[in-house]
Amino acid sequence: MAKPISVAILISGSGSNLQAIIDAQLAINIVAVISDNPDAYGLTRAKQAGLSAISLDYQTFSDKKQYNQALFNTLRELNPDLVVLSGYMRIVPDEIVDFFNGKMINIHPSLLPKHPGLHTYEKALQQGDTQHGTSIHFVTNVLDGGPLIAQQRLDILPTDTVDSLKARTQQLEHQLFPQVIEWFAQHRLRLENNQVLFDGKPLQLLGFRD
Ligand code: GRF
Repeated sequence: MAKPISVAILISGSGSNLQAIIDAQLAINIVAVISDNPDAYGLTRAKQAGLSAISLDYQTFSDKKQYNQALFNTLRELNPDLVVLSGYMRIVPDEIVDFFNGKMINIHPSLLPKHPGLHTYEKALQQGDTQHGTSIHFVTNVLDGGPLIAQQRLDILPTDTVDSLKARTQQLEHQLFPQVIEWFAQHRLRLENNQVLFDGKPLQLLGFRD
């Protein structure tokens, strides 16, 4: 059997997606969970799962450059086959993105290219969208703008609030993210000349099987 790929997971907060990845028991080797926030509950989840939990406390660095240098050093040392941004709330600098070209994916809570950046639930509700959802994409130097891999959508209900929309979107995320990671781990998914290939063919946007 082929050796499982090594994966580093970056988080900043609750880590519910991290938990979904752990619970999916994928044939991957999670080499570390790294957080810029020492209080992130995701670090506790990582420890509880027996994973290496690395806190790179942003506040202890003199500036953004120093922090990013430490992050880059840590990632280079781990040398993972895949870097997963799982609720990581900082912009990854170009040199790290370039180093891991085709090996870094992000999950974003909107139907990209709609609503990049923060406050996606508020924006969807304020703008009267009828649908919302989640997107997973390869990371490039364009914020939330890399080639899309998979999306899952839901209908916005007249009764929806930010909290209810978030809860329902995250339910979709918790199914879709492990699935995409599994596809990557099975070498079914790759980025070539900024184009996503699935089973060697240009991708039709993926969702999980209903
Ligand atoms: C997710 O909704 C993800 O789309 C966004 O940040 C959130 C992280 O949530 N990038 P969690 O930390 O996985 O609970």
